[in-house]
Amino acid sequence: MAALGKLLRTTAFRLTLVYLLIFVLFAVSLLGYFALNTRRLITDQITHTVNSEISGLRDAYMQGGIRRLVIVVDVRSRRPGSSLYLVTTPSGEGLAGNVGSLEPGVLDHPGWLETSYRRIDAPDEPEHRALVQLVQLSGGFHLLVGRDLEERERLYGIIANAGRWSSALVIVLGLAGGFFVSRRVLNRIDAMTDTAHTIMAGDLAGRLPVSGSGDELDRLADNVNAMLERIEALMRGLKQVSDNIAHDLKTPLTRLRNRCEQALRGAKGETDYRAALESTIAESDELIRTFDALLMIARAESGHARDNMTEFDAAEIARDVGELYEPLAQERGLALMVDAPTAAPVRGNRELVSQALANLIDNAIKYAAPRPAEINPAPAEIVVKAMAEGERITLSVADHGPGIPEADRDRVVERFVRLEQSRSQPGSGLGLSLAAAVARLHGGALRLEDNHPGLRSTIALPRAGPAGT
Ligand SMILES: Nc1ncnc2c1ncn2[C@@H]1O[C@H](COP(=O)(O)OP(=O)(O)OP(=O)(O)O)[C@@H](O)[C@H]1O
Ligand SMILES: [Mg+2]
Repeated sequence: MAALGKLLRTTAFRLTLVYLLIFVLFAVSLLGYFALNTRRLITDQITHTVNSEISGLRDAYMQGGIRRLVIVVDVRSRRPGSSLYLVTTPSGEGLAGNVGSLEPGVLDHPGWLETSYRRIDAPDEPEHRALVQLVQLSGGFHLLVGRDLEERERLYGIIANAGRWSSALVIVLGLAGGFFVSRRVLNRIDAMTDTAHTIMAGDLAGRLPVSGSGDELDRLADNVNAMLERIEALMRGLKQVSDNIAHDLKTPLTRLRNRCEQALRGAKGETDYRAALESTIAESDELIRTFDALLMIARAESGHARDNMTEFDAAEIARDVGELYEPLAQERGLALMVDAPTAAPVRGNRELVSQALANLIDNAIKYAAPRPAEINPAPAEIVVKAMAEGERITLSVADHGPGIPEADRDRVVERFVRLEQSRSQPGSGLGLSLAAAVARLHGGALRLEDNHPGLRSTIALPRAGPAGT
């Protein structure tokens, strides 16, 4: 019963009812119009033939008097058909014709009228209706000519019946169709609701069923599924980040704690305490840097960073960041060259792009330290480039260090991933993650390539201005 109530409340069923009403109204008015017009047509036809018969009989009366009229009417009355004739004396006595009885008083009113009658040859049959015209002839005689209306009524009845049956059929078929469609829709909605419940219960892997017909429900399900896909990916990312944080920050925090404990237990004087405090501050700074990096990655990955997109010159960024890192590079015995001769207008988040480039240069300085010429004859230099590549502007940093083996290139952009070979250098494994997140934010990806030898890392940004908006 509840299921039926649910079915009746569906939009599909309500729409069916509205259409049903419109169809029935249409069928009834069409048939009504048809019936009325047919009736009028038949009446017109009767009027026309009766009129012409009367004028013929009048002529016969004019030419041959009552005697001739009686003979003609007698002949006509004997023909089979639905024509009615009656000739009476002025006092109403029948002289000729096939009408046996009429409604009383009919003979007193000349003109058109509808009346009941019986035929003279069938006095026991039930009365019929007829449309008749009565005229008074010059000698006071009455002439009545008419037509039986049985046929007209029968036709009218057939049409009325057709109307009743077709309305009934439309209603039955419409209701059945409505039930069928509503049940189908309801079944699909119920399946979707069930899936939604399992998703709400925590199973994010659930997806709404798609029938494959491509209808509006399928489109809705597709969109919701795409949304779920995205949410699931975000949740996975979030989980990964929190796992990473829990795992990777635990070690430095434990180290910090142990150092403090050691100082408390073993320090012999102010210098020891001072040293312990200094190393604690250094370790904390490192932790803060890691948090900052994580926050910045989160910012680049969330849509918010997209609100801060402006137009700026990537060549200028390359020069500024290059200048900032030049002393550090020199200190390590590396030549840092910036190759950005022409303006490279881009549209992006300036702060994030600068930080991403800084991370790439920082890596090059850290990992591409000069080695003896027998091991690495390539010049100890780092080249920072800003250039246009079609619709994009690329910022790249190339070094001649050990590079990253091809097999590890996907892995190193993940958070906290550091290669074994670089453990001797400080770092938390977040620099490339940020660069990759920034590249994704700008609709591209971070490219890591072999620089023969060394590494070339490239970020592509959308070109600004009329050529690329
Ligand atoms: N230019 C490079 N040459 C060789 N190896 C590199 C280079 N850049 C990155 N790598 C490798 O990729 C790893 C990940 O780099 P990433 O910048 O993400 O982290 P990190 O430099 O170790 O730490 P952080 O950047 O957070 O201080 C590095 O640990 C290193 O092993
Ligand atoms: Mg780094």
